[in-house]
Amino acid sequence: MTMNAQLHAEVLMPLTPAYIEQACADDFPVIADIYNEYILQGDTTMEEDLFDADRIHRWVSGFHDRERLFALKNQAHMVIGWGVIKRFSDRAGYRTTCETSVYLTKSECGKGYGTFLKKYILEICKQMGYHHLVARVLASNKASIAYNIRLGYEIAGIQKEVGIKNGQWEDVVLMQYIVK
Ligand SMILES: CC(C)(COP(=O)(O)OP(=O)(O)OC[C@H]1O[C@@H](n2cnc3c(N)ncnc32)[C@H](O)[C@@H]1OP(=O)(O)O)[C@@H](O)C(=O)NCCC(=O)NCCS
Repeated sequence: MTMNAQLHAEVLMPLTPAYIEQACADDFPVIADIYNEYILQGDTTMEEDLFDADRIHRWVSGFHDRERLFALKNQAHMVIGWGVIKRFSDRAGYRTTCETSVYLTKSECGKGYGTFLKKYILEICKQMGYHHLVARVLASNKASIAYNIRLGYEIAGIQKEVGIKNGQWEDVVLMQYIVK
């Protein structure tokens, strides 16, 4: 590894240790709170209704056996982020395609945790036999687009005016990652 590559790898490591677990019911309230930070902010997700632990519970209860919800926890065992693997489609021919999303509590963004969690999710996707990973990102979410590109995703296309938020059309950037 060159000196530059080594420095970059260090920059992408979380500042303080964190760990990832499959999310359990105790994690659902904070997972809902984190999602609500972005629903209320209104520029990250097309979701508009706030979540609570019950709604996360119902969501996870409906998961297929090839879908996962993960909690990212700090040294104090507090949930600071979450990530999900969802099937792209229930049609059999898409069995090796999934969609991934990551959300960190705002105070923990920009510290390498998102990279840590997504790299973990990429590894789990590989172990589960997924081949094509999709990320759908609002076109205005430049940080998330840069984040996914940094992780090896490429832009497959832009869906123009595919949604509406606050009375404005929203474009969505479709990103893809082929598991090697
Ligand atoms: C997107 C998100 C998961 C990234 O996680 P993170 O821990 O903040 O990102 P990292 O610290 O691991 O940074 C990795 C790369 O992301 C990009 N990035 C992160 N924050 C950025 C910002 N504010 N502006 C531009 N690029 C940014 C950079 O390319 C960065 O690499 P670099 O440090 O070499 O420049 C996190 O910021 C987040 O939860 N954002 C809100 C929710 C969201 O947008 N989720 C995706 C929905 S599709």
